[in-house]
Amino acid sequence: MASVEIHNLSIQFGHSEVIKDLSLNVVDGEFLVLLGPSGCGKSTLLHSIAGLIDVSAGRIDIGGTDMTWADPTDRNIGMVFQSYALYPTMTVERNMSFGLRINGTPKAEIERRVNRAAEMLQLQSLLHRKPSQLSGGQRQRVAIGRALVREAGVFLFDEPLSNLDAKLRAELRRELKLLHKNLCSTMVYVTHDQVEAMTLATRIVVMRNGKIQQIGAPADVYEKPENLFVAGFLGSPGMNLLTGKLGLSSSGKSVFLSGKLALDVSCYPITTVLKQEQEVTLGIRPENLLIHTRGEWQGTVSVIEPMGNHHVVWVDFGGTLLSSVVTGDLAFCVDEIVRFNIDVAKISLFDNTTEQRL
Ligand SMILES: Nc1ncnc2c1ncn2[C@@H]1O[C@H](COP(=O)(O)OP(=O)(O)O)[C@@H](O)[C@H]1O
Ligand SMILES: [Mg+2]
Repeated sequence: MASVEIHNLSIQFGHSEVIKDLSLNVVDGEFLVLLGPSGCGKSTLLHSIAGLIDVSAGRIDIGGTDMTWADPTDRNIGMVFQSYALYPTMTVERNMSFGLRINGTPKAEIERRVNRAAEMLQLQSLLHRKPSQLSGGQRQRVAIGRALVREAGVFLFDEPLSNLDAKLRAELRRELKLLHKNLCSTMVYVTHDQVEAMTLATRIVVMRNGKIQQIGAPADVYEKPENLFVAGFLGSPGMNLLTGKLGLSSSGKSVFLSGKLALDVSCYPITTVLKQEQEVTLGIRPENLLIHTRGEWQGTVSVIEPMGNHHVVWVDFGGTLLSSVVTGDLAFCVDEIVRFNIDVAKISLFDNTTEQRL
């Protein structure tokens, strides 16, 4: 096991700076997920930890040792890529042991490690097959096994499940989580899939344009997004966002005002000093917009999306579509007027200019 400490890392390709003065501590034994849209620099960051690309500035410590310029093979890491890249002519067993045979690991030790990894990944009965005789999911498990046999301190995963279909992806996701529980090793996992990030991570790092937007436990990042970008990136359907102003009610309470809506937000813990009539955006997760016969506001049901165990109901509220998650049977249908409440304890407020959380 090992920690990874990244200090003021910058990476440039030609004139474009892809990673910008980034600092990050990966705690020993944690499952850290790097999440962000395509092109934000996730793979670049991961490859720099692996030693596959040169950094322009900064330092990378692995297990407390400066590894910024160390050879990839000396970094005590195992890496799994998106494409399996298995050797087609070798059996599963040979594929998994290849790296160990190259660096002269004793035969008995190779056998022990391959059997241990095969057991963890349920590959025992497949050890003598060739990659062409395996399914996509089995091949990716072999690729994971090939990294596991290194018994490295840190495992790096670059979108390892994105080539698999939805069902297999969910299955392997669970296996990876179990694997982490059993191995307790440090894992850094890149994905653009927020469901993978939410389900796997002990902490999520949300990235945009080579910079960290927020680091936190999945629930923190989901419930208390630091800015509008993070708010919009996590959640499906996304957070409902309404632009408006903050004002004072006649009784001196702070209220959010937007069209027909006047919401008492006096319980919201605002830490910054507010300007008079500050322009803000109100964020409400769909599960916190509650359709209720005695709700305070009303709108027209525009679209209903059945999801099996719940419905996503889109309510037209003065021209803005707001989503609500409804479990159980629906007591209304499309074009009907419904009433709803907003769970004020769970709202987010953002400054419209800085896009930061208030
Ligand atoms: N070897 C390279 N040379 C030049 N530009 C690169 C190279 N690798 C990545 N980039 C650019 O760096 C940016 C970040 O890429 P990448 O780290 O692969 O993003 P992500 O993994 O988040 O999708 C992209 O704009 C990409 O085009
Ligand atoms: Mg990538």
